[in-house]
Amino acid sequence: MKVLLIGGGGREHAIAWKLAESELLEKVFVAPGNGGTALEAKCENRTLVGEEAIAFAQTEGIAFTVVGPEAPLAEGIVDQFRKAGLAIIGPDKNAARLEASKVFAKDFMSRYGVRTAKSRAFSEYREALLYVETLAPAQKLVIKADGLAAGKGVLIAETIGEAKDALVSLMQERTLGDAGKTALIEEFLDGQEVSVLAAVSVRPGAHGVIRPFVAARDHKRRFDNNAGPNTGGMGAVAPVPDFSPAAQEDFIRHILEPTLRGMETEGFDYRGFIFFGLMIHRETCYLLEYNVRLGDPETQAVLPLMDADFTQLCLAMLDGSLAEFPLAWKRGAVCAPVAVADGYPGPYHKGDFISIDRTSFAHTNARLFVSGAELRGTALYTAGGRVVAVAAYGQDAVTAREQAYTALEAISFDTMAFRKDIGSVL
Ligand code: AMP
Ligand code: GLY
Repeated sequence: MKVLLIGGGGREHAIAWKLAESELLEKVFVAPGNGGTALEAKCENRTLVGEEAIAFAQTEGIAFTVVGPEAPLAEGIVDQFRKAGLAIIGPDKNAARLEASKVFAKDFMSRYGVRTAKSRAFSEYREALLYVETLAPAQKLVIKADGLAAGKGVLIAETIGEAKDALVSLMQERTLGDAGKTALIEEFLDGQEVSVLAAVSVRPGAHGVIRPFVAARDHKRRFDNNAGPNTGGMGAVAPVPDFSPAAQEDFIRHILEPTLRGMETEGFDYRGFIFFGLMIHRETCYLLEYNVRLGDPETQAVLPLMDADFTQLCLAMLDGSLAEFPLAWKRGAVCAPVAVADGYPGPYHKGDFISIDRTSFAHTNARLFVSGAELRGTALYTAGGRVVAVAAYGQDAVTAREQAYTALEAISFDTMAFRKDIGSVL
């Protein structure tokens, strides 16, 4: 069986590796892929632009396609593949609005009783300003762009003054373009963040199912102790020790189940992954956001713990047998710190040679997942802000972390920087 995977980051490297592990699989084509997928067993990179992906899937006899990132999902790649009679993992354009429009997602949550932060949407910036002026001056707020903004669409405002500045820049100056045409003003929630990735199989007229994976935690701030600017993710761990059984139950009851009911009621055809971005406050879960895909770098920490055939999981999502699928998890933990190019998330240098001491690396329980690096000859060179993640397995979180940081010592490039506390701070 041959599979096509769309995307080119660390998440896609992890997905490609996990797909390829299956005995059912002969080949994973990754479009465009990266230096890591180029070297992965049974994987091959392809450059496919626009409609070329459909033609390629048809001529190669691709069994199914998996979509990694949100942008093609929001643009309707799933609708196009299905129209061409091709099996594809991901939500259609309508359901992808759960991520592509925060206003749509919030309306969905309120329609189906999914617990979330209180918020109001505004498409007139004067009205938004008038509204914040009615609030207490010291109130902390979260200002969000409605549309996709590559991780830049959320601003935490410590004061009403900061909230107003954010609204002006978002809605009037349009610093994020049309993504900021409509803004959400949301109450600030205190607590610990948890990411729950899950497999979804919902089809019109049938009972749907959502199977959650082992929980993960991303570390979004650039520097140790959660200081500095937000990034795409500086490292992840799985599972999350402080996500208690009580909180997990609360998540199932107040977030997962109402989401499933909502998807069924809306008549979604959603055979893909979903990401619940949670804030946990005293065992009570609030949904901050849906992403209609797997997370990056959470996937790099979660998939090594999956004790199941990922290719078969995808087939079960497609054919409606997900409820019976034997989804199991290894005991133990994964710690996956990300090595970035210094300067990231601001400007950074590309093209550094990445030296890997393969012998020392092989002595650890770590796996290398490439995010932003390209293959030249047989060597990897940096090509992005987030460069590689090392996902190390251990019997417990402490061993996993030790293994991960030992493995990182085997890697070096001129601009290399990383957080030293992945998994040791909440
Ligand atoms: P989002 O893209 O909605 O997940 O927001 C990005 C980040 O902003 C989240 O991971 C949180 O750290 C933070 N955030 C979003 N909404 C809230 C909220 N209501 N209260 C506190 N922090 C939030
Ligand atoms: N790690 C957060 C995300 O994938 O959006």
